[in-house]
Amino acid sequence: MKTIKNMAMLAALIFAAPVVLADDEAPAPAAAPATVEEIAGGICAGCHGADGNSMIPMNPILAGQQAEYITKQLLDFKANGEEPPKRNSPVMSAMVAALSQDDAQKLGEYYARQKLTPSQTPADEKLLAMGKILYHGGNIENEVPACAGCHGPKGTGIPPRYPAVAGQHTEYTMTQLGLFNTGDRGNDNGVMQKVVSRMSPQEKRAVSEYISTLR
Ligand code: HEC
Ligand code: HEC
Repeated sequence: MKTIKNMAMLAALIFAAPVVLADDEAPAPAAAPATVEEIAGGICAGCHGADGNSMIPMNPILAGQQAEYITKQLLDFKANGEEPPKRNSPVMSAMVAALSQDDAQKLGEYYARQKLTPSQTPADEKLLAMGKILYHGGNIENEVPACAGCHGPKGTGIPPRYPAVAGQHTEYTMTQLGLFNTGDRGNDNGVMQKVVSRMSPQEKRAVSEYISTLR
């Protein structure tokens, strides 16, 4: 709990400058796009890269992701009064605490406009082959559906509901599959939770590696 409190305080500090600015500029909505670039460059860049191409395998690449998906995630990270956030991440909840719905929408559009630089993580050939089969055809034996059915044959997703996954860092994808599996991520209406519930750990690793190589 202490770390969560500290994170919130940290975020309050980080947010102090841009928030005051935004309030001052409130009557002039024309200035909004510049403000979004300020938010992205000043707050998000440290972890996701200035253009959303995170170099850190635990932090997702946001560049080229669907705007609606990003907006949904940002709002899901936000606590709603007494209710806990729909998507649990103390780090991201602190980051979005001061963002408005309009900020979330503009940030979605901002990252969707950026050009994706895919992950360069090296992959194991054997696992890649297994991941490829699973991604495109699923696994009849344990009834894992083909990922391509919802995320597209090239991993570009289907707007507005199914996010792009192509070129994402293996570490991040693996972590998300694990979080869906344990129920710690539950903002998917149970869709992904069901998909991962029958996957073996090896299948999770294999498909995550394959996804990182999709272009
Ligand atoms: C301290 C590092 C850090 C900062 C700063 C940060 N993020 Fe994040 N972000 C993360 C991590 C870690 C995750 C993965 C969270 C998880 O699922 O556990 C994440 C996840 C996300 C996601 C979900 C992506 C997806 O594919 O589902 C979005 C969108 C996002 N961040 C946007 C932002 C924006 C916009 C900002 C600035 C307002 C920001 N982040 C600032 C670390 C950070
Ligand atoms: C029936 C449709 C469906 C199928 C099949 C499916 N997904 Fe998903 N997936 C979704 C939806 C919907 C979301 C977004 C949930 C949300 O809004 O947060 C998602 C989200 C994800 C995410 C999180 C992306 C991010 O940026 O955080 C990953 C990773 C993922 N899926 C991987 C897979 C893999 C791997 C498979 C195949 C084993 C698969 N999905 C099959 C519907 C599907």
